[in-house]
Amino acid sequence: RVNIKRISTGVRSLDELLNGGVETSAVTEVAGEFGAGKTQFCHQLAVMVQLPEDKGGLSAKAIYIDTENTFRPERIAQIARARGLDPDQALKNIYYARAYSSDHQMILAEQARRIIKQDNVKLLVVDSIVAHFRAEFPGRENLAERQQKLNKHIADLLKIADAYDVAVVVTNQVMAQPDVFFGNPLKPAGGNVLAHGATYRIWLRKSKENIRIAKIFDSPYHPEREATFKITEEGLTD
Ligand code: GTP
Ligand code: MG
Repeated sequence: RVNIKRISTGVRSLDELLNGGVETSAVTEVAGEFGAGKTQFCHQLAVMVQLPEDKGGLSAKAIYIDTENTFRPERIAQIARARGLDPDQALKNIYYARAYSSDHQMILAEQARRIIKQDNVKLLVVDSIVAHFRAEFPGRENLAERQQKLNKHIADLLKIADAYDVAVVVTNQVMAQPDVFFGNPLKPAGGNVLAHGATYRIWLRKSKENIRIAKIFDSPYHPEREATFKITEEGLTD
């Protein structure tokens, strides 16, 4: 991993937490409860990647795989405007696909690879990576099959990140159990598959009103830092 670049989040505190931003050649998992800001984080990055390098971006495009139908073009336009980009152009620089099932999601990842080969894409978003898998393979009796499929999907994404020097960002909804999540044993609702699969994991949690707190988990055995940010009309801000 000699060629690593970073996409700024556009938020100073988050960038400091991430040593400059979200890395290419890596899979970054954004985990947190509903409303924590995972989808907003993805929207922001889909704009930030387009900025020139001196503004924190990579002058590149994004692919956005949306499994929950929560992608909002108007929100992209809003964030783009706040960053001095033409909203229409910013939207054109995002390849968007809605995934209708876990199988479809995996096919879209393969299609993403083909697009990445041909175009200047430096960000691949999968929001949410686990929703379809959880819905289609519910309960303990299906856990093994779910884990197996999810493992394959994450392995595919890791290969794409690695082969094409792309930043892959995936989201994972987890229940709000700060004492557990932000204390010791990490037990996301998706099992430990993502914990082992993703290169980095960022945990978001809600604070007062539009304030959110992010934490990065390299490993439960390493010191942990926190960053505070806001969700505003401009997107994510300090
Ligand atoms: P789930 O997908 O349900 O797990 O949640 P999430 O973590 O993806 O949350 P999301 O990113 O959707 O964050 C939702 C928060 O962002 C809400 O508290 C909204 O108030 C805020 N938000 C979303 N869109 C806008 C917007 O256009 N303007 C502003 N100011 N805030 C927004
Ligand atoms: Mg979401």
